[in-house]
Amino acid sequence: MTPLVRPPGPRNRGIIGNFPLGSSDPLGLYTQWARQYGDIFYYRAFFRHIYFLNHPDFIEHVLVTNHQSFIKGEALQFNRRIFGNGLLTNEGDSWLRQRHLIQPAFHRERIESYGNTMVAYTERMVAGWHDGEVRDIHLDMMRLALEIVAKALFNVEVSAERDRISVALNTFMELGSRGRMLLPPILRLLPTADNLRYRRAARQLDDIVYGLIQRRRSNGEIADDLLYALLQAQDEGGGIEDEQLRDEVMTLLLAGHETTAVSLSWTWYLLAQYPEVERELWSELRAVLNGRSPGTQDLPHLRYTERVVKEAMRLYPPAWAIVRNSLKDCEIGGYRVPAGATLVMSQWVMHRDPRYYDQPERFRPDRWLEGRAKAAPKFAYFPFGGGPRTCIGASFAAMEAVLVLATIAQRYQIRIAPHDPVEVLPTITLRPRHGIHVALTQRVENAIA
Ligand code: HEM
Repeated sequence: MTPLVRPPGPRNRGIIGNFPLGSSDPLGLYTQWARQYGDIFYYRAFFRHIYFLNHPDFIEHVLVTNHQSFIKGEALQFNRRIFGNGLLTNEGDSWLRQRHLIQPAFHRERIESYGNTMVAYTERMVAGWHDGEVRDIHLDMMRLALEIVAKALFNVEVSAERDRISVALNTFMELGSRGRMLLPPILRLLPTADNLRYRRAARQLDDIVYGLIQRRRSNGEIADDLLYALLQAQDEGGGIEDEQLRDEVMTLLLAGHETTAVSLSWTWYLLAQYPEVERELWSELRAVLNGRSPGTQDLPHLRYTERVVKEAMRLYPPAWAIVRNSLKDCEIGGYRVPAGATLVMSQWVMHRDPRYYDQPERFRPDRWLEGRAKAAPKFAYFPFGGGPRTCIGASFAAMEAVLVLATIAQRYQIRIAPHDPVEVLPTITLRPRHGIHVALTQRVENAIA
């Protein structure tokens, strides 16, 4: 068996070991290590032994083929105060029961029924935009995606709560990006300024989510949505306690908007950098929609738009790494990985691997054309994870991204405005550090091509 290589890492990080979050550029460092040390390598952070997997087969091994040998890693467990025992963090039989209960809300026909909400809410937002205006489009995408998921799954309007949700989320993301998840649990309990901020933000989100559940419960509304199904399961003694209900609603509300919003934000950024792609997109939208609102019936014809979204998620995967812990000693690609090890698989690194993508840094939606796609292994592209814990909202998100993009790109051309530089902030998701400030030019039919 070949010994694993341990990267030298940023020297002198003392007790932090050589954990990349100690670096100002963890994405760059991971990429550099992966190119230097190959398909699997080892490093240490505090007392944790971390194995980085950089081969699609190894990723498939962990997420699919041998998934029983692994559980979700610390990065998510650290967020248990927020997500509780919701679908994202739960494990075992309890996870499976919840997945079965929630899955019907994500069946194909159900998802298609959300299409009208997605387009109507986007049009409502765009109605307030003006030619020549400069906007932080990331903020717009965050608000929009939150409103959409709340309406689609829970039939509630969250316009009044959306800014409070966003402030609380920003706090988590900021603390997450500073490596709070690496602290031993005991240190997270101390009354430090960061810990107090974290707890305040968590309490705020609790209030909002419990309020939302209460609102629905007290108006006794019967609607064919997920919240109704969850409330019913609770009334019928389906084993859902109040706290579990809160955990599921919180998980779906947060996981269901942050990632989609981030993917749309980066899509706008890339379109602004690649005018030829934007032109191609515009010409598809003109040909298929000719100025009318898109609907789910148009999806089979918006193939280029779909490729734009797919390619943007390759370059800027909203979930940029997946973490697991090994439950027992195992072997991956001929290497021994001990029980209790942490395994990291990064979409950011894999999606830019020149072994699988020609000119990996370039935004080329047509690389996904059937017949032209390089015959890459399945897990060379895994924005939604894989195996039993694959993203439950993948089709929801993919449809939302295409419909939102089509609705807005028909009306406005978007260019990056002079402002703070656009930078990635690799926290739990891949956020733009200072937002994305853009200048809007209203499209007059045929005037901008
Ligand atoms: C572009 C958008 C999205 C991306 C990139 C994304 C990515 C992911 C990834 C990578 C995972 C797997 C995490 C792991 O294995 O550790 C996941 C799980 C999950 N996602 Fe998404 N997601 C997106 C949109 C959504 C939406 C719209 C929803 C809900 C409306 C959602 C809800 C969830 C839930 C509940 C899980 C946990 C599933 C389980 O373990 O059973 N996501 N997502």
